[in-house]
Amino acid sequence: MKPNRSSTPALFQMFNWIADPLSYLSNNAKLHGDIIEAQFINFPPFILIGNPQMVQEVFNADIKLFDIGKGNKIMQPLLGEYSVIMQEGEQHQKQRKLMVPAFHGDRMRGYGKLICDIAISVFSENLNAGVLPVRPLMQEITLRVILEAVFGISDQIEDSEKRTRYHELKRLLTLVLEGLSSPLKVSFLFFPFLQKDIGTWSPWGQFLERSRQIDKLIFAEIQSRRDEPEQVSQNRTDILSMLMATKDEAGESLSNVELRDDLMTLLVAGHETTASALSWAFYWVHHQPEVLDKLGKELAELGENPDPNAVFQLPYLTAVCNETLRIYPVGMLTFPRVVRSPMQIMGYDFEAGTFLAPCIYIIHNREDIYPEPHKFRPERFLERQFSPYEFFPFGGGSRRCLGNIFAQFEMKLVLATILTKFKLTLVNNSPIKPVRRGLTIAPSDHLSIKISLI
Ligand code: HEM
Repeated sequence: MKPNRSSTPALFQMFNWIADPLSYLSNNAKLHGDIIEAQFINFPPFILIGNPQMVQEVFNADIKLFDIGKGNKIMQPLLGEYSVIMQEGEQHQKQRKLMVPAFHGDRMRGYGKLICDIAISVFSENLNAGVLPVRPLMQEITLRVILEAVFGISDQIEDSEKRTRYHELKRLLTLVLEGLSSPLKVSFLFFPFLQKDIGTWSPWGQFLERSRQIDKLIFAEIQSRRDEPEQVSQNRTDILSMLMATKDEAGESLSNVELRDDLMTLLVAGHETTASALSWAFYWVHHQPEVLDKLGKELAELGENPDPNAVFQLPYLTAVCNETLRIYPVGMLTFPRVVRSPMQIMGYDFEAGTFLAPCIYIIHNREDIYPEPHKFRPERFLERQFSPYEFFPFGGGSRRCLGNIFAQFEMKLVLATILTKFKLTLVNNSPIKPVRRGLTIAPSDHLSIKISLI
């Protein structure tokens, strides 16, 4: 059996997917059911899976059945060929194992105070500053947090060389990601023929030049630690120190290029997504005052300066974050799983090379799982449990998001800290549209607030 597919020409499907991805997904699901073959130019058959049972089979399948790095080639110019995201099979598992300790319990507890301090400082700097777009504000918080978690550097650091490096990295990362922020700007990732370096006035040339400058800064930071080995000690809690100190079973440590690609992956994956998720959370909480009210009561019960772990476990706050990630999941699809040799799942035949993409957005908006799916209703997460194939904003199986606990910790702590210390007013309470931002979706720039003290 073959999945249903649209008769719309591949080029139009591609434009539609780039320009208005959520309408593309929901229209196809309405017309063609929950297992759909999309056709995009430059791509092999691309199956959008909106069926939880098939998602379960894909997540739980033997990892040898799929290539995944191959399906992520679109991200290679940004993250590099040694990024964990680009690896396959055993190499992927080995590299992932090196990174996992950075996100374990003890380390997370260490990040708690850092996250709260950064959130307060960003909001205090913008207090009474008039109308402010929400996303850049959130991005400032999540970028400062990830730079400090990854490199252990901030604008407080005494070493002036490191401080300059920190400011430059922050500026360049923002510029590179801004350069991919709209459907038009991101097109060169989808159409490799646009990847022509004809000087820094061209989008691709500018992207390459900025990436080169970022590389230089990251390599300089790595070198400074190689020159002063005491910087790579067990006492340092940043992720770069940890990665430089780790050795695999053969006693090998990561090379400079491998380190660069993994750091870049954490920097990019670790702040864009969380900034968008947080922007949505602030929107929903203020768009529906009854949610703010309930959340306020729950937070008040913890008293002043609560323990970050107690905040992490609050049931209503958890439901608010889950509902935020359900209704507009920042990643609309998981990474595609590329079929290695012809296979059958649930009676459907897939040839080698086919991309199988569990579609988070379609499943999170299924009426049979989530009644009235377009309503923001956190209570649904208190009334029943959803399986990891019905609710999976962080993907699943061997590729499940490495930073998922970090992201949820950050979302909850930023929300709790800001809502108990500041008063936010939405500038315009009309519904906000989700728009493409790179390979993800985010609230449109119309989402703005005013900040004052409570
Ligand atoms: C709300 C925030 C976030 C969302 C919605 C999100 C979502 C995702 C999704 C959907 C995947 C693909 C999983 C799959 O294909 O099964 C993924 C992978 C990944 N994410 Fe996240 N993510 C978030 C935050 C973070 C953070 C904070 C970090 C790191 C600090 C991070 C690092 C990664 C990495 C390294 C991978 C690749 C894992 C692998 O290939 O094994 N993400 N994320």
